[in-house]
Amino acid sequence: MAGRVISCALIFIIALNGAYSENDTNQNVAAPASSDKSIVMETGICRRCICKDNKVDCSEQGLKKFFPKDEWDALEEFQPKTVDMSDNYFENITSMGNLTTVEVLNLTRCSVEFIEFASFKKLQRMRVLDLSHNKLTSKLSPHTFEGHYSPEKYEPLESMRVLSLAYNDIHSLNQDLFEHLPELTELDLSGNPFITIDYPSLVAISSLPMLKVLRMRSCQLTAIPEKFLHTPRYLERLDLSDNLLEAVPQELEETKNLMYLNLNQNPIKELDMNSEEHPGFPRLRKLKELHMCNMHSLKRIGPEALSGLENLESLHLAFNPQLSELSPRALARPDEIGETYDWPLIKELYLQSNNLYEIDRMLISRWDLVKAVDVSDNPFMCDCTTQWMVDMLVPMVDKITPNVSASMVCNEPIEMRGYTMQHLHNIHRHMRCVDKYGNRPEKDGAILLGTLIGVLLAVPVMLSLMLLWRRGYFSCIGLRGPTSDSRAFYKRAPHDDSFM
Ligand SMILES: *[C@@H]1O[C@H](CO)[C@@H](O)[C@H](O)[C@H]1NC(C)=O
Ligand SMILES: *[C@@H]1O[C@H](CO)[C@@H](O)[C@H](O)[C@H]1NC(C)=O
Ligand SMILES: *[C@@H]1O[C@H](CO)[C@@H](O)[C@H](O)[C@H]1NC(C)=O
Ligand SMILES: *[C@@H]1O[C@H](CO)[C@@H](O)[C@H](O)[C@H]1NC(C)=O
Ligand SMILES: *[C@@H]1O[C@H](CO)[C@@H](O)[C@H](O)[C@H]1NC(C)=O
Repeated sequence: MAGRVISCALIFIIALNGAYSENDTNQNVAAPASSDKSIVMETGICRRCICKDNKVDCSEQGLKKFFPKDEWDALEEFQPKTVDMSDNYFENITSMGNLTTVEVLNLTRCSVEFIEFASFKKLQRMRVLDLSHNKLTSKLSPHTFEGHYSPEKYEPLESMRVLSLAYNDIHSLNQDLFEHLPELTELDLSGNPFITIDYPSLVAISSLPMLKVLRMRSCQLTAIPEKFLHTPRYLERLDLSDNLLEAVPQELEETKNLMYLNLNQNPIKELDMNSEEHPGFPRLRKLKELHMCNMHSLKRIGPEALSGLENLESLHLAFNPQLSELSPRALARPDEIGETYDWPLIKELYLQSNNLYEIDRMLISRWDLVKAVDVSDNPFMCDCTTQWMVDMLVPMVDKITPNVSASMVCNEPIEMRGYTMQHLHNIHRHMRCVDKYGNRPEKDGAILLGTLIGVLLAVPVMLSLMLLWRRGYFSCIGLRGPTSDSRAFYKRAPHDDSFM
């Protein structure tokens, strides 16, 4: 039985081999100067790879040598638009010949160390070039990207828009690196050990006036140098996640059109408008989406620290295990007169898995506009201060994502530990007020008695004091009657009544 299977397999392999050599000989005879498209499909590159629907797919073919120029030239008739060479072992990239139709070239994970100058010269329609996960170094030369001669521009690859150099071994960029890529809109430099953005790198990136997307994730950056973001004035998306930034880079102020910012996984401890060392955000009028997640050092976000983000719609502030203080006024921005506050109209709010003991109702002005929200997995305090969460936030989050409030769990006070806010909502629980030190008088008979006596004594004393105060007996020592000092903040009704 087994012998039969093996011999069958052998015959099959032999038959295959036969077919191969047959095709090989065919090719050797027919390939040169043939204009028959079907022949192109059977020769050279298309014999090793899959050529279909204008796509050449050579990924994971175990190729050890880049195809020579004449083989690329022979592909011309096939008119490939996408060439996928990913996951092979080329050390060197050489000229790709006359492939004028290629729009996307994927050279990711190819162990590339060196790219022959002007290898892509004729690829005048190339829009996307993926060179990520290779072994390119700071020696990468501007001539790599040399294109056609053009009277006004400097031998540009004029169609190039998206370039990824991510996950190589680049410490510094040649300052003219992008001189042949004048129209580049998207650049990925993630995963390169820059550590600092030195002057040549700064010049290189500043020479890309059309840049819209810049990714510098995991670059070991400790700071963003001055003027770095000055020239790319159309920059809309910036990823600085997983770096070593200890403060919100104030240089961001230069990015007047920034819409998306990712600062995840940076060792920022605090955001405080009054601190030079750990300031809040500068004014970023167009920013819509902010990510500050997985920040293991982040403890505190002070009043107005996010107030410069006046058009923020999506706030991702999650998985920060130490974040216990999020000021109710973090997003609130004093208006011109300084009497009332304005809030950005947040549509998506992610605060899950922090160390917050409450979500303040004033954090957001229009809870009714929120379309996505997750505040689960925080050690919530369940007492009278968070009653609004049980009464109002629970039905709201459940309306958006059914049953999500089952993961809003009480941690304090001790007798409430483990209850979900969903449950408390369902039983219409009214939570008691616990004092600052977490004392629960009912646990201790003596304290209870003492408190009772205290209260019994305090009531008449307080009443008489109140009477005296109201009549102005204390004005001599500077205590005035009822004031409105603390009201300014709550003055402007933030329309949040509509959802109740
Ligand atoms: C050889 O070419 C024939 C005809 O194009 C094709 O059907 C066959 O699959 C090829 N054989 C191999 C091993 O590629
Ligand atoms: C790659 O190019 C370098 C420099 O031109 C050369 O020294 C090296 O031998 C080439 N390696 C291969 C595998 O062709
Ligand atoms: C390159 O391709 C273009 C368009 O297919 C053609 O016009 C041109 O003659 C080719 N050049 C060379 C050197 O093969
Ligand atoms: C290149 O290929 C890799 C893996 O095949 C893929 O993940 C990546 O998105 C591709 N790049 C482009 C620009 O299409
Ligand atoms: C809601 O979620 C909790 C835990 O997340 C689960 O135990 C419960 O069965 C869920 N209820 C419904 C109705 O899906």
